[in-house]
Amino acid sequence: MKITVVGAGNVGATCANVCAHKELASEIVLLDIKEGVAEGKALDIWQTSPINLYDSRTIGSTNDYTKTAGSDVVVITSGLPRKPGMSRDDLISTNAKIVKMVTENIVKHSPDAVIIIVSNPLDVMTYAAYLTAKVPSTRVFGMAGILDTARYRAFLAEELNISPKDIQAVLMGGHGDTMVPLPRYTTVGGIPVTELITEDKLNAIVDRTKKGGGEIVNLLGTSAWYAPGAAAAQMVEAIVRDQRRVFPVCAWLQGEYDQKDIYLGVPVILGKNGIEKIIELDLNAEEKEMLETSSGHVREVLAVLDNMDLS
Ligand code: NAI
Ligand code: 2OP
Repeated sequence: MKITVVGAGNVGATCANVCAHKELASEIVLLDIKEGVAEGKALDIWQTSPINLYDSRTIGSTNDYTKTAGSDVVVITSGLPRKPGMSRDDLISTNAKIVKMVTENIVKHSPDAVIIIVSNPLDVMTYAAYLTAKVPSTRVFGMAGILDTARYRAFLAEELNISPKDIQAVLMGGHGDTMVPLPRYTTVGGIPVTELITEDKLNAIVDRTKKGGGEIVNLLGTSAWYAPGAAAAQMVEAIVRDQRRVFPVCAWLQGEYDQKDIYLGVPVILGKNGIEKIIELDLNAEEKEMLETSSGHVREVLAVLDNMDLS
């Protein structure tokens, strides 16, 4: 197995580090456009191998895509993160050009790879990669839902004073403030969460989850990386180990949930071929309305991309 992570910044380096520690591949390539950064971080990660006892070889590359050749899974994290006061959508023009260029190079050297997009605005960057890659949509999808549900689960664990391991949740829609956490599908050790928490407290947690990315941007002056890097690595693991895990993933919809020609967060089964299946939940009227609002917002940003000259 060979994994490539493009972008050796905060999220990319964290993702490569987690992939190495989990021994997800014999070779993990970290690539960045900034001279020496990927080599330096790859070397640093590799030097944890005798301490953490793993064999995965981490290799750095300054924009040399020949080193990524034959990758089975590629994670694209290259692009600007947001600063306080910015929305994810403010990043679109810069990041779309980067994602397009990176995807072209990736597909040229690894035509069979499964490609996971992390760069923001996530739903639209995933669409940009899909348009560029010209490979089946089951092999091009985005990471957001695992991160957003992780935030939701962490907040719930804190409020209920229980282990986050026992909280299962689904979250749908775009990766933005219109995302749709679904309390009706949230359980704690199999018990519906609504039996354990008041409606007011649950609503406050849902609201905090929707703004969870911004909360960290305001604290750090840049966006989060530990949870995003770990979330992307969890998707890589599901694919390289063919685990058939059920995760919320930003997937290309062709009629599912009455949505067509759009990338949106939905629950899927992830395995060796990428998206093995999109799971369709029976949403109630209120949930459908929230999903519609979220997809409306994503479509507005998709239209901006469609009208951009990315050449
Ligand atoms: P960062 O600034 O730490 O790292 C980005 C890296 O991309 C830099 O090292 C930069 O040199 C590199 N880069 C820029 N252009 C490149 C190119 N053409 N080829 C190769 N590398 C290139 O940013 P960070 O914090 O790692 O975030 C990366 C992206 O991920 C941002 O767009 C951010 O908004 C997004 N993000 C998405 C999340 C999600 O849930 N989907 C969560 C967290 C961040
Ligand atoms: C996050 O949710 C900014 O998308 C990034 O942390």
